[in-house]
Amino acid sequence: MVTGMQGDRARSALVSTRFGDVRWVPETGSTNADLLELARSGGSDGIVLVADHQRAGRGRLDRSWEAPPGSSLLVSVLVRPGGVSAGLTPADAHLLNSALGVAAADACAEVAGVDARLKWPNDVVAVGPGGEVAGKLGGVLAESVVVGDRLDAVVAGIGLNVNWSEAPPAGAGGAGMALSQLAGHEVDREDLLIAMLRHLDRWALALASADGRSELAERYRARCATVGEHVRVELAGRSFEGRALDVTDDGLLQVAVEGEVRAVAVGDVVHLRHQP
Ligand code: BTN
Repeated sequence: MVTGMQGDRARSALVSTRFGDVRWVPETGSTNADLLELARSGGSDGIVLVADHQRAGRGRLDRSWEAPPGSSLLVSVLVRPGGVSAGLTPADAHLLNSALGVAAADACAEVAGVDARLKWPNDVVAVGPGGEVAGKLGGVLAESVVVGDRLDAVVAGIGLNVNWSEAPPAGAGGAGMALSQLAGHEVDREDLLIAMLRHLDRWALALASADGRSELAERYRARCATVGEHVRVELAGRSFEGRALDVTDDGLLQVAVEGEVRAVAVGDVVHLRHQP
């Protein structure tokens, strides 16, 4: 039987979106690093790079991201702020994290039947029956190319634990989990990729307008497992505890601490106790 090249199905399913240029490789260092290099040398909007394995996968806050070959969906997309996502500034680049997180969570539900949620800022997580975080399914890392004061490109990458023969190791975000564990069967990575990029195509367009951004924020809040939780917010060199109240349209986490509300832009969050 003649089988197609890895990514053929995605290329034809995504041809009418900005993400039709799907490049699927067996191995690379980091798909984010590759697309950043391509972005700096003029690569065009919408290029998608998927790898079965990364030798030097990058996580948030200078951590590494490791996964056995073939176990995960490891993918990055190059988004240029011109064209349909016009008006994105360097300060808006982080919105691609929310857009990709929401797209991934929706794809997990559609393709694997897994009710994936988002742990602020960028973790895709599984939740237990009471809404408590049960484990990390994946994470998003968006990196920018800024030229002068202009946003030239954003590379948004995601690592999703899809088919692991044993539970992924615990990391900074807590226990690791894979979609196959929750679904009870293997999950097709290309189906996930297609569903996720169809959603992302719509959200990348939405970022161009204030209404679209509020719609994305609304969707993020609906999927967010952090709002309502008692959390410890870990910032560079210090931390504080409080109750997560909301996520603003700009993506800031609002935390109630001793009678005041603090807005957090960057940091790690630990869910301390689940309060239904
Ligand atoms: C996190 O720390 O949770 C974010 C992890 C992001 C990992 C993905 S895997 C595909 C892409 N390429 C990388 O080097 N990193 C991202």
